[in-house]
Amino acid sequence: MAKILVTGGAGYIGSHTTLALLERGHDVIVVDNLSRGHAHNVDPKRLWRIHLTDTDALVRLMRAEEVDAVIHFAAYIAVGESTREPELYFSNNVGGSLALLTAMQQAGIKRLVFSSTAAVYGMPERVPITEDMPFAPVSPYGDSKVMVERILGWLDQYRDLRSISLRYFNACGADPQGRLGEEHNPETHLIPLLLRAIETGVPITVFGDDYDTPDGTCIRDYIHVSDLAEAHICALESLLNGGPSDAFNVGTGTGYSVLEVIRAVEEVTGRKVPYEIGPRRPGDAAVLVANADKLRTVLGWRPQYSDLRTIIETAWAFEKKRTAKGQ
Ligand code: UFG
Repeated sequence: MAKILVTGGAGYIGSHTTLALLERGHDVIVVDNLSRGHAHNVDPKRLWRIHLTDTDALVRLMRAEEVDAVIHFAAYIAVGESTREPELYFSNNVGGSLALLTAMQQAGIKRLVFSSTAAVYGMPERVPITEDMPFAPVSPYGDSKVMVERILGWLDQYRDLRSISLRYFNACGADPQGRLGEEHNPETHLIPLLLRAIETGVPITVFGDDYDTPDGTCIRDYIHVSDLAEAHICALESLLNGGPSDAFNVGTGTGYSVLEVIRAVEEVTGRKVPYEIGPRRPGDAAVLVANADKLRTVLGWRPQYSDLRTIIETAWAFEKKRTAKGQ
């Protein structure tokens, strides 16, 4: 079993992956500056509150803890915010990654799993999306991830750094045992917003119903966060076993429209979702669905929780717990 440094381990996907790593028998330390993550998501004994640009502190930590590999989540993730504050996204997502990679080079660590996104494809010409389709990001956020993937390509060639980039589609749901869940601030993602609309009675706006899809609303590929966490374990273990650098989509291959998700939320919760139809949100593609065959065939990934019902049941259970605690 290996010693893994997880950056951004106090965030949504990072904390679920940390849990999965520990259950798998790996040892984990988390580096997170808590700018967007939550301390309550991590065992305080494992948490190091260090900024990625503090190279000396990172190198010392990597050496002292004898880290074998890194899983890098720490980044900003909001597409809309990235269009308003592009410098922030390039400095945090690209600059932070580069600083981390510099520290890894100094500490002699040669294995990395990188948190990438379907946003690297922008508005793809066809779906389902395969990994060989071109990079065509339409936001600073998406391009920040493209830039890091490109840097990783060069470091594979000139530094023998082996890395796997996982391009997530729509991460959602919560730990099936209720230990963790989604707590972005502000929240921008569809499923938690639908659950909150039920609780508050304040209608959610559906961003456009005039897309070229069967019901006119956008179609997305929703992937349960615990299946996403499992994809990181598959990627990590491939690298630890001497596997090559690569990139994989992480999705289910099945898409649901916004209205289909609303109906599923109503079925699971037994409550009406208040909503209204609004204008399109700039930058939204009509349909984003993964071809995720490569992850299954090459790395043996088997999703277990990504049917829409389980996604919503786990998210709803966590949301009720979260509001009961007043968080
Ligand atoms: N939506 C609404 N109303 C809302 C929020 C969302 O109608 O209030 C719709 C969106 O238009 C979209 C769908 O619900 O069609 C899902 O939207 P999210 O904001 O939950 O997710 P996105 O598909 O926009 O973004 C996700 C990740 C990004 C990643 C992107 C890749 O959150 O980090 O997928 O395309 F970049």
